[in-house]
Amino acid sequence: MRLSMDWLPHVAYVANRRVRFLWSTWQAYVGCRWWAIEIGRGCRFHGKTFFRRYPVSKITIGNNCTFLSSPNANLIGINRPCMISTMSPDAQVRLGNDCGLSGTVIAAFKEIVLGEHVICGANTLITDSDWHPEDLRSGGSAPVVIGSNVWVGVNATVLKGVRIGDNSVIGGCSVVTCDIPSNVIAAGNPCRVIKLLEPSSPLPESACGPGLAGRTRSHATS
Ligand SMILES: CC(C)(COP(=O)(O)OP(=O)(O)OC[C@H]1O[C@@H](n2cnc3c(N)ncnc32)[C@H](O)[C@@H]1OP(=O)(O)O)[C@@H](O)C(=O)NCCC(=O)NCCS
Repeated sequence: MRLSMDWLPHVAYVANRRVRFLWSTWQAYVGCRWWAIEIGRGCRFHGKTFFRRYPVSKITIGNNCTFLSSPNANLIGINRPCMISTMSPDAQVRLGNDCGLSGTVIAAFKEIVLGEHVICGANTLITDSDWHPEDLRSGGSAPVVIGSNVWVGVNATVLKGVRIGDNSVIGGCSVVTCDIPSNVIAAGNPCRVIKLLEPSSPLPESACGPGLAGRTRSHATS
């Protein structure tokens, strides 16, 4: 393929992106050291990720994770930087290797765990609390555990106490209020299983009510 002037904007964009990655990554590793966050090798940052670690609490990030925090870092549209925080002394955030976050907010009052290779789409929110513990109308905090190879779609929210099983997909804009089994596609508000990723497996038990139960199996496995 012959390079022409038509390529210029693309090449400039890619070069600019590479420089941004280098600069932001250097800043982020310095920031992690400042906040005493354990971070693995080979992580990449685009734009400024905000870290806040409450004293004594723990934030651990695996190897080769990617954090996209500036609006043009991901052309699906990032509205805010990644923000990773612990909000109490006994809180924990753990991210496995190869996770990818885009404008994702993870805020732990107790515990939030992401397995290996978890992809969080633009502007996703993962929280284990209702954020106003002093308000009698809010419930208590409860750990959130997301398995490995999970893909959480754009603008989805994962609320307190939720477990998402390995290999599952959460649809865009979903609100996950209760457990989602492994190997399924789940979507909606509240988030329900809409498809099985392993058609031969039995219909999963979901804590979220009917889900697939209201649908025929052929629809569920299509
Ligand atoms: C979840 C998703 C992957 C499923 O795609 P799919 O397997 O092709 O699903 P279908 O389009 O066949 O939809 C199946 C059913 O689920 C519903 N559904 C699909 N996605 C949904 C969503 N995000 N919220 C609510 N319902 C949804 C459909 O309306 C359909 O319902 P129906 O059978 O009653 O008509 C896709 O819809 C989605 O949300 N994509 C966004 C991915 C994303 O966020 N990418 C950003 C980069 S990380």
